Amino acid sequence: MNTTGNTIFITGGGSGIGRGLAEAFHKLGNKVIIGGRRESVLAATAAANPGMEFIVFDAASPESITAGTAELTQRFPTLNVVINNAGVQWQHNFATQAVLDETSVASEIDTNILGILRVSAAFLPHLKQQPAATIVNLTSGLAFTPMAVYPVYCATKAFVHSFTMSLRHQLRETSVRVIELAPPWVATDLAAAQPEQAEHGDMKPLPLADFTTAAMAALATDGEELPIANAQFLHDSSVAPQATKVFAMINGAH
Ligand SMILES: NC(=O)c1ccc[n+]([C@@H]2O[C@H](COP(=O)([O-])OP(=O)(O)OC[C@H]3O[C@@H](n4cnc5c(N)ncnc54)[C@H](OP(=O)(O)O)[C@@H]3O)[C@@H](O)[C@H]2O)c1
Repeated sequence: MNTTGNTIFITGGGSGIGRGLAEAFHKLGNKVIIGGRRESVLAATAAANPGMEFIVFDAASPESITAGTAELTQRFPTLNVVINNAGVQWQHNFATQAVLDETSVASEIDTNILGILRVSAAFLPHLKQQPAATIVNLTSGLAFTPMAVYPVYCATKAFVHSFTMSLRHQLRETSVRVIELAPPWVATDLAAAQPEQAEHGDMKPLPLADFTTAAMAALATDGEELPIANAQFLHDSSVAPQATKVFAMINGAH
């Protein structure tokens, strides 16, 4: 994608990976608007990056998405990039739990799956009017090879990988390109609220700055499925080399 000259909305842009991407795009001169649930976090990030804007936006709430989309497209008519970054992750152990933790399962599905479907659908009528637009969906290396302590999270990311392929295909004759960005394990707050850290074998989290540099370099290419750093081997061990050909074969021109 073209990484300059855009007006970009990033969900979950107040902290973590979203903030890293927001600041990198901001430094390149793009107009950047960040969204999230905690106003104080958004305000601090915007204050540290003069010219960056923010909106309180809950990607798990249909009402918030409807209101936020209306406000953003009205305030920023040139908005042409939406980065679906907001995500949550919880551990579940079906071997030991007495009951399903409905609240955390619902938050993973509402944010990681329904949030991306709703945000994409809400912005598409506007994006299709732009001469060049992009949707970037954040998945994970764990979309391709799950880590079993996060069984629902990994399945939500596999969902988004599959959905992103179909969305890209359906939009191929519009002005909207669709990119999947799959991070490896990155040092953020994502797993901070977990009862205990998962065992990651020999793997270490990538520092956020290193991830951001690698992700921006990948986004600046023509690539559409972008596993970053350690996410590459998790991707390659699951996605067969002929997968793109088979996808084209069963989809044809439909
Ligand atoms: N860190 C990793 O190792 C890793 C690896 C692979 C993929 N990813 C993916 O990368 C994305 C960002 O992860 P991260 O590590 O940066 O997580 P993070 O540090 O926990 O940050 C998540 C951000 O999303 C926001 N958010 C959460 N729920 C939201 C909602 N319903 N509506 C709007 N904003 C919401 C949070 O702000 P509020 O709480 O204020 O809303 C926060 O700013 C996620 O999709 C994650 O699955 C992360």
